Amino acid sequence: MTAAPTFARLPKAELHLHIEGTFEPELIFKLAQRNNISIPFESVEALRGAYNFADLQSFLYLYYQAMNVLRTEQDFFELAEHYLQKAQADGVVHAEIFFDPQAHTSRGVSFDTVINGLYQAVKNSEKNYGLTSRLIMCFLRDLSEDDAMETMDSATRHLEKIIAVGLDSAEVGNPPSKFKNVFARAMAEGLLTVAHAGEEGPPDYVWEALSDLKVSRIDHGVRSLEDPALVKHLTEHKVPLTVCPLSNVKLRVFDKLTDHNLKQMLDLGIVATVNSDDPAYFGGYVDDNLIQVAEALNLSKAEQIKLAKNSIEASFLTHAEKAAYLARIDAFCQAPT
Ligand code: HPA
Ligand code: ZN
Repeated sequence: MTAAPTFARLPKAELHLHIEGTFEPELIFKLAQRNNISIPFESVEALRGAYNFADLQSFLYLYYQAMNVLRTEQDFFELAEHYLQKAQADGVVHAEIFFDPQAHTSRGVSFDTVINGLYQAVKNSEKNYGLTSRLIMCFLRDLSEDDAMETMDSATRHLEKIIAVGLDSAEVGNPPSKFKNVFARAMAEGLLTVAHAGEEGPPDYVWEALSDLKVSRIDHGVRSLEDPALVKHLTEHKVPLTVCPLSNVKLRVFDKLTDHNLKQMLDLGIVATVNSDDPAYFGGYVDDNLIQVAEALNLSKAEQIKLAKNSIEASFLTHAEKAAYLARIDAFCQAPT
């Protein structure tokens, strides 16, 4: 069977991207030097060589360690600038970007430093890179709900800079229900909600994210397919899943890309999207994810276009903005190659 053609630079939205997960070793070393902080790796190559993970927890250990060199507003600005530049080259037209304030405030970096640096890059992204972007503030689920509430207190001064709240970090043992009150407060403040669920955790966590946190999307959600009633709910209510194929292989959710259930999701009628999660750590940005998974699962041209259109439909853009981006996908697909 001949492989279906794959699209490079197909216009798309990226909806599952941790800005701290775009921290490339070169930039880690540059900021370590600038801030006079030592890191326990001799070189960029040695650091990259450590990117072998047994599971989510073993990745998170290194992910939080690397962040220690992010100290100033300028550092956070440069981090986001690097990502936006790379995203534009990948055909990303819109990005909804996670950040983990507690991973910084717990080290003595102020909430204002983090958000002001990131927001400066987000604000400039349309002018500098021709792509729109928004920030999603994630709570670390291995910390307490009280800690998340304190973070929400800090965020109240910056609500216009944030579109939604999310939930990330170590999933198993930290169910969505633990954060019911802080998510209710975020919604009362006018924010939308999303949550990581069903990456390593069971389908019950996806149900909880829907019922207790009222999420608009599920991040990952690959384990949802174990529960037929949940699949029925996701399809009937068009709840999007932000799937991250290379992440799932790197963190051993699936042994190999050919085992991934993305094609099954499409066949079942689930609104699936493809995203990069932590591209600096997982071996590829969003185009790498799309191209590699399309090849591994032999996705047709129509399925690849569907994934791109799903990403726009599943975004937090307005109807008019979505229509304009969907028209750009059609124009791209009709252009002679
Ligand atoms: N899962 C949970 N938390 C995370 C991830 C992830 O894939 N990446 C960064 N924080
Ligand atoms: Zn993630």
